[in-house]
This record gives sequence, C-alpha cells and structure tokens, in this order.
Amino acid sequence: MDTRSGGIKSALVERLTEARERTRWLLRTVSDEDLALQHDPIMSPLIWDYGHIGNYEELWLLEKAFGKGLSNRDLYDIYDASLHPREERPSLNLLDREGADVYLDAVREAVLRAVEAADLAREDPLLKAGFVYHMILQHECQHNETMLQTLQLMRGEGYRPQSMVELPEGNPTDEMAHVEGGTFIMGTDDRAWALDNERDAHEVDVEGFYLDRTPVTNRAYLGFLEDGGYEREDLWSSEGWAWIQSQRISAPKHWYQREPHSWWTERFGFDEPLSMDAPVVHVSFYEADAYARWAGKRLPTEAEWEKAASWDPKTGTKRLFPWGDEPPTPEKANLDQLAFMPAEVGAYPAGASAYGVLGMIGDLWEWTASDFAAYPGFESFPYREYSEVFFGPDYKVLRGGSWATRPDAIRNTFRNWDYPIRRQLFVGFRCAK
Ligand SMILES: [Fe+2]
Repeated sequence: MDTRSGGIKSALVERLTEARERTRWLLRTVSDEDLALQHDPIMSPLIWDYGHIGNYEELWLLEKAFGKGLSNRDLYDIYDASLHPREERPSLNLLDREGADVYLDAVREAVLRAVEAADLAREDPLLKAGFVYHMILQHECQHNETMLQTLQLMRGEGYRPQSMVELPEGNPTDEMAHVEGGTFIMGTDDRAWALDNERDAHEVDVEGFYLDRTPVTNRAYLGFLEDGGYEREDLWSSEGWAWIQSQRISAPKHWYQREPHSWWTERFGFDEPLSMDAPVVHVSFYEADAYARWAGKRLPTEAEWEKAASWDPKTGTKRLFPWGDEPPTPEKANLDQLAFMPAEVGAYPAGASAYGVLGMIGDLWEWTASDFAAYPGFESFPYREYSEVFFGPDYKVLRGGSWATRPDAIRNTFRNWDYPIRRQLFVGFRCAK
C-alpha cells in the first residue's frame, strides 16, 4: 500500500468515525421510549433510522463492495426501506438502542478491516474514486437530518441537543439579483461524491431572470397571511387550494397565534415568538407557490436555482459551492446541525454566489418549480430505488440544504425531492421574476 492510498484510507476512516459519533450525539438526549415511538405517520421511529444506518452500511460497504455479509437476513428485511412503508416500521422486530449499538459497532469493525485490506485503485464502479464510502457517509448524514425532522415533530417534552452555537445577525434585503440569459453547465460528471441523479453534466440555456437575494422572511410571509393569502383562491393552484381546504391549513406548520398580530412558533417542542428577519420554514410547495403569486413573482426552476448558485459568468466555470470550490465553513453557511435553526436572512455575506445571491447553501432547503426528473444520460447507480423510482410529476425538487444538513451531504448540484404537500422538512423558498 503506498502512502497516498494510506492517507486516503485514514481520511475515510476518520470521516466515517466522525459521522457515527454525530449520529450518537444527536440521539444521546432522546429517551429510549421516544426512540421507539412513531412520532408522526410520515416518519420512522428513530430507532429504525439508527438500525437502518448500520444495515445500509453492511449491505453496501461489506456485502456489495467486498462480498462479506455479516448478519442474518432478518435484519436486511427489517431495515430495507423499500420493503416496509413507514406505517409498518413501528411493528417490526427492531433492535433497541443497546442492540443497535452492538450491531453498528460490529458492522463498523468489519468495515474497517475490509478498508484496511482494500485496493482503492480497483476498477470496480462501487469502489472507484471511493464512491461507496462517500455514499455510506452521505447516507448517514441524510438520516441525521431525517431524524431531526422527526425530533421536530416529537410530542411531549421536546428535544434539546447537548449544545447549540449562536448565529450571526442578519441583514434582510428586498433586492433581487439579475442572472443574465445564456447557457451554463447543469449537473456534474463527478463519480466520487455525486449521486446518480446529479449526473450527467449538460448544457442548459436559461433566459435572463431575477432572483431574490435572500429567502422569504417570516415578516414577508406574514404579510401574505394577513392579506388573506390563505382565503384567496385566485392565488393558489387548484391542487394547492384543494389541499388547504381539505386539511384546513391557514398558516405554516408549527405557527400559532397568541393574540392578534402576535405569532409564535414551536421549535423542537419549545415555544418562541416568530423571528421576523428569519426565513419562513415548514411551508409546503403549494404555500410557496401561492406566496410567489401574491408577491407578483414565481418560484425559480431548478435550472435557474443552480445557475444562480454555481455559475461564474466572468470565468464561464462552475463552482462546487456558491462562494467557490472550498468546503463550507461556519463563516460561509449555516450547516452541520450546529445552531438547530436557520439564521436571519443575509447573515452570511461571505457565502454569496457570483451573482450576489445569499444563503443558497445552508439555513433551509428551497422549493423549486421543477418536477424531479432524470438528466440526459442518467443511469441509475447503484440501485433504482435511490432516485429513479421517484422521477415524475409527483415530486418537486428542493435545493441548497438546511442547518440540519451535514457539509459532506450538500453541494450546488445536490438534488432533494418531496411531495408538494410536505412541510416536515426544514424548507422555505425564495422567488424569481
Ligand atoms: Fe436510508
């Protein structure tokens, strides 16, 4: 083994170890009882996520990559997301915290032994460029965010992590940035970190447009609400209108009114007055779409979002992150489960894109107007259930990651998707024109 691959290996091991420490840290302040409960019909019990993280690692990093299965098939069955819809998961014979701790440790020990012996130069599509390690790492990060969504929905005494950092102050603006018309490169050909739905890189011609420099704030959204936004059918798509009528929806999820004009929100089970300069979160695609119509604007398409985030018109090159190719830091973006809330808008001038758009990565996911669809040249890899089965008009694309997203699991090309009615995500939006 040369020193270079030794260095890569120790870096991989360090990252995998750190990701596991984070998962356990997030769950440390959650009782065993709350781990086992299903807190919302659209979420798994937290203890399912935890066991599934280990089983996914066993399946892909031990069995598929190295041919070394470890456990009996029962665990594969229990923790296969495509075999069991969420409503079935609480009744499965899930490992408890102790049992899952032991299982995850055993898988990880076997993984470390396999990594030690691995030939990273092997021409295997799973191992090449370290893809499978990065996939496992991102999978654990993604489940961290899912678990935080569950914790936000948890009833009872609420959730507090062991520590939270303070956020910088915001600097709200109503300005829009102009993005000139013309082609840019959308997606990527990277095979080390990118997931199948981000490929292939392809040229897209975008007409010139304006994009809000910052996401829509609670103050602005309250303006829509108090202007009768939820009562005016003309502002809503027909699906959106039918949804708010049938579900009696009249405000973002977790908002409530104490007195006239006094709006509060509930964050992880604790009440707080609505922070007016913070971005609106926990809104559905339909609400974002109606707001945009009220404001005389519209939601950006996925291509517009990616061009504004990634394209450098001066050099005609694409950036990995809005500010450049350097990895995120706390000065550039609110990521990594450090603050447990979005910052006020405009708080990260150092994170601006080439067009001067702020907060595109971090704080909150952003709804786009686009359906989740395959790029030209798409090939599902390593399995269809990662993206391919979700392509189509049922899902809308979200971009940019939130405060709950870990840095290894976000970049300008990263695509997330969900149903247009969903509000459990740490999601808001900005408008285009
Ligand atoms: Fe998963």
